[in-house]
Amino acid sequence: QRAKLSLLFDRYKHKFTTFPKENGWLGEILYMYQGFWLMSKTIYSVETVMAAQDTFRAHPNDIYLVSLPKSGTTWIKALVFATMNRNRYKNNNPLSTDHPLLVSNPHHCVPFVEDESFRTNPSYRDTKSPRLFATHIAYSSLPQSILDSGCRLVYMCRNPKDVLVSLCKCLDLMTIEEAFGMFSRGVNPYGPYWDHVKAYYKASLEHPTRILFLTYENMKLDTVRNVKRLAEFLGFPFTEEEKTKGAVEEIVSLCSFENLSEVNKHGDFRSGVPNNIFFREGKVGDWRNHLTTEMGEILDQITKEKFNGLDISF
Ligand code: A3P
Repeated sequence: QRAKLSLLFDRYKHKFTTFPKENGWLGEILYMYQGFWLMSKTIYSVETVMAAQDTFRAHPNDIYLVSLPKSGTTWIKALVFATMNRNRYKNNNPLSTDHPLLVSNPHHCVPFVEDESFRTNPSYRDTKSPRLFATHIAYSSLPQSILDSGCRLVYMCRNPKDVLVSLCKCLDLMTIEEAFGMFSRGVNPYGPYWDHVKAYYKASLEHPTRILFLTYENMKLDTVRNVKRLAEFLGFPFTEEEKTKGAVEEIVSLCSFENLSEVNKHGDFRSGVPNNIFFREGKVGDWRNHLTTEMGEILDQITKEKFNGLDISF
């Protein structure tokens, strides 16, 4: 994987190493590419995004789960994977012991578009239809074939204060003051936060049958209702019989923070990246334990100005 990334870096570096840059959150450089801050030499990086733009080919039946890092990507991957595959595992029972979500990380079940190691793997071409992918790529930077193919996208948005705290606390490499300063300036992986969210929100209003806009907070509030909505949107509606038998509740419970964090307590997702890095508190409003009231107010003010009347509430 490292060797493949190095090759890619070498192939694309002449294009981006002169772009504006900032020190990143993980001790590496963030490059400004097409208006968004991207890391380098990781699987979600400026060079893998460029490679995806050059070579990724969407199919009309594909489904894409889109989010900013720390907005609930892992959770939405699990929920959609479990919903789409609910008849595939033993006895139609999503809780049967052969279910991938009981033994592996949701990120292994749903690959990222910008994961070069996956795309160069031959199994990528064999994936059955509809294919399910995730991506953090900004709307305006999506590979053109995703926009042209008419396929469906689900966008998971989260309160910026919780995204900031989740980012800062997942590795704990910087102080909350430093993290607040960078995030407020829009410098976070795939940020600025507000530009990323706004573009998908507007696109969801323009193309309501193609793009579903969800929030982490609403998902927490009523997961069952939102999973039913998701299933309908994606073309996998639950039958009345399934609903009566509690199939939706089973999926919600399989994908709960408690269950997934237990399954992923040990082991590595990739070399040097522990499975449990994707699971911390799993709560709404944890920012109150880390940001000052003043920091919260400043972020609220920025959000109000940037969203400028858009009906996005958390
Ligand atoms: P916190 O750091 O606030 O706990 P991502 O998957 O986009 O990296 O987002 C990670 C955030 O989602 C973390 O938030 C993590 O704890 C939370 N999360 C992970 N799995 C979850 C689940 N099954 N239900 C709710 N939240 C979950």
